[in-house]
Amino acid sequence: MTTEKPKRRSQAWFGGQDRDAFVHRSWTQKMGHPADEFDGRPVIGICNTWSELTPCNSHFRELAEFVKRGVLEAGGFPLEFPVMSLGETQLRPTAMLFRNLASMDVEESIRGNPIDGVLLLMGCDKTTPALMMGAASCNLPTIGVSGGPMLNGKFRGKDIGSGTGVWMMSEMVRAGQMTQAEFTDAEACMNRSAGTCMTMGTASTMASMVESLGMSLPGNAAIPAPDTRRNRLAQLSGRRIVEMVKEELTMDKIMTREAFENAIRVNAAIGGSTNAVVHLLAIAGRMGIELKLEDWDRLGSEMPCLVNVQPSGHYLMEDFYYAGGVPAVMREISSMLHLNALTANGRSLGQNIEDAPCYNREVIKTVEDPFKPHAGIAILKGNLAPDGAVIKPSAATPALLKHRGRAVVFEDIEDFRARIDDPALDIDENCVMVLKNCGPKGYPGMAEVGNMPLPKKVLEKGVTDMVRISDARMSGTAYGTVVLHTSPEAAAGGPLALVKSGDMIMLDVGERSLHLEVSDEELARRRAAWTPPPMPDRGYAKLYVEHVQQAHLGADLDFLVGSSGAPVPRESH
Ligand code: FES
Ligand code: MG
Repeated sequence: MTTEKPKRRSQAWFGGQDRDAFVHRSWTQKMGHPADEFDGRPVIGICNTWSELTPCNSHFRELAEFVKRGVLEAGGFPLEFPVMSLGETQLRPTAMLFRNLASMDVEESIRGNPIDGVLLLMGCDKTTPALMMGAASCNLPTIGVSGGPMLNGKFRGKDIGSGTGVWMMSEMVRAGQMTQAEFTDAEACMNRSAGTCMTMGTASTMASMVESLGMSLPGNAAIPAPDTRRNRLAQLSGRRIVEMVKEELTMDKIMTREAFENAIRVNAAIGGSTNAVVHLLAIAGRMGIELKLEDWDRLGSEMPCLVNVQPSGHYLMEDFYYAGGVPAVMREISSMLHLNALTANGRSLGQNIEDAPCYNREVIKTVEDPFKPHAGIAILKGNLAPDGAVIKPSAATPALLKHRGRAVVFEDIEDFRARIDDPALDIDENCVMVLKNCGPKGYPGMAEVGNMPLPKKVLEKGVTDMVRISDARMSGTAYGTVVLHTSPEAAAGGPLALVKSGDMIMLDVGERSLHLEVSDEELARRRAAWTPPPMPDRGYAKLYVEHVQQAHLGADLDFLVGSSGAPVPRESH
C-alpha cells in the first residue's frame, strides 16, 4: 500500500482500500462506472444550471452530453451536478437577490465533492457571475461554456431584439404608436429558439467577459445556441478541462489583474451591460484582486465602442457571431490589451486572436472608424453619490449627458407605478426622475428597474428619453440616459434617500459629476428626520440584507469575499 499523498483530490475519495473508499466507489458504481475508472483519472464536475424555470438555459442537458463526450475522449471522468439556476425573467423579486446564494451552492458543491476540475455551463444573466464567483472561491482548474444567444427574433419581416424590443414596443404602445394586438403578436416572434437574449444584454455581455478573461475557449461568447458549432465547442471544452487538470492550470493563473483589465476594455468595445460592473467587481473580490469602480472609468472610458449591436446599436448577436465575434473585437483593440494573459486553452490571449478574422465591418467596426468614439462605463461622483454611480454613455442621449433638472422623486417602485401616468403629476421632459429604495438592501437584491418608463404625457409628445437616477440596476438590454447603482443606496442611508421633489440636480457626465443642489445644512436636517425602511426578518433575505455590500464593491456578501480554495474536507462517516 502506498502512503504517498494522492495526486488529485478525487483520490481522497476514490483511492485507497479502506471502508470509506468502498463507500465512495460503490455508490458511484451504481451509475455504471466500472472499477477501473477510479484509477486516478481527472474527475470533471460539470456544473449545470439547466432548469425549466430558466428558459434561457433549458437546452443545457443536451449541451452537457457534448461536454461529457469531450471529457471521456480525453480520458477524464465526467460527473454532472445541478446548482441553483437563476432565471432572469421569472425569478422575483429579482434574480440578482440570489446570485450570491447560487454562488455559495456552486462553491460548496465543488469543495465538498470528489472533483478535480470544473466545467461551468452558464447562460442566463446571473448564472454566469454566480458560477464564476463560486468556482473562483475554490480555485480549481475551471473552464466556462456559455449556452449561447438565441437566433435573431423575427417579427413582421424585421429583426427584433430580446429585451430591447420589449422596452421599445411597450413605450410605443403607451405613446399610441403600436396597437395592443401587434404588441401581443410580437411575443411569439421574439424568442424563437433555445438560448439567451440575443441582444448585447447581460447574458451576452457576461459570456463575452468570460471569454475576454480567458476563461473559455476562443469564440465561446457568440455562437448561437442552436448552431451545432456550440455543441462542438462544448465537446472541445470537455476535452480541454481534462488537460487543464493535468497541467494544474488553476483559475488564479488565468484570472489575473491583467485579465480583468482586458475584460473591462472589451466591455467598452462591445457596448456591454452595466451589470458587468457589479459582477466583475464581485468575481475579482473572490480572486483577491483589488478591482475598483474607478478602474472601469480609467480603463474603459477612452475606449471606442466597435460593436453595432442592440441595445447600443442595430444588429443582434447572431450577426455578431457571423462577423467574427469577440476574437475579432479583441484583435481590433489588441494594442489596448494585455496580450500575454494566459487563457484556458493554454495559449496567450495574443496568440488566440492574432489571426481572428472580421467578416462584416458594419457589425464590428474598426478603431479608426468606430461605431461610437467614446464608450465604456462612466463613473459619476458627487454629493448625491459619494461612493459612485454608473452610466453607460453609449446607450444614452448625447444631449442629456449634461443636464440640470428638477427632481421628481419616487419613494419606491410601487410609488413610481402608482403615479407615473397620473395626468396631475408635475413632470415634463426636462425633469430628472429619481427612484429610491431599489438598491441591494432596498429592493432587496438591486432589481433592474432603473430604466423607469417615461410618463405617458411626455411620451405622447414624441420624447423618448429623460434623465433617470436610482440605486437600482437596469437590464443589459435597456437603454437611455439612466444613472444607476448610486452608492450608498437610499435604504442604507445614502444621500439619495434625502432628495425631495423640486430639488435641482446637475448631471455632467463629461465632468463625471452628479450633484444635488441642496446645502449641507439642509441635507443634515433631512438626514436627522430620515428613518430606514423595514428589512426582511427571516430566511435568506435577512442574511442577504445584513451582509450585502454596496454596489460599488460588487454587492457580494461580506463574508463571501475572498477564497477558501478547495482543500479536501474531513471524511463524512
Ligand atoms: Fe435569460 Fe435574457 S432573460 S438571457
Ligand atoms: Mg436582466
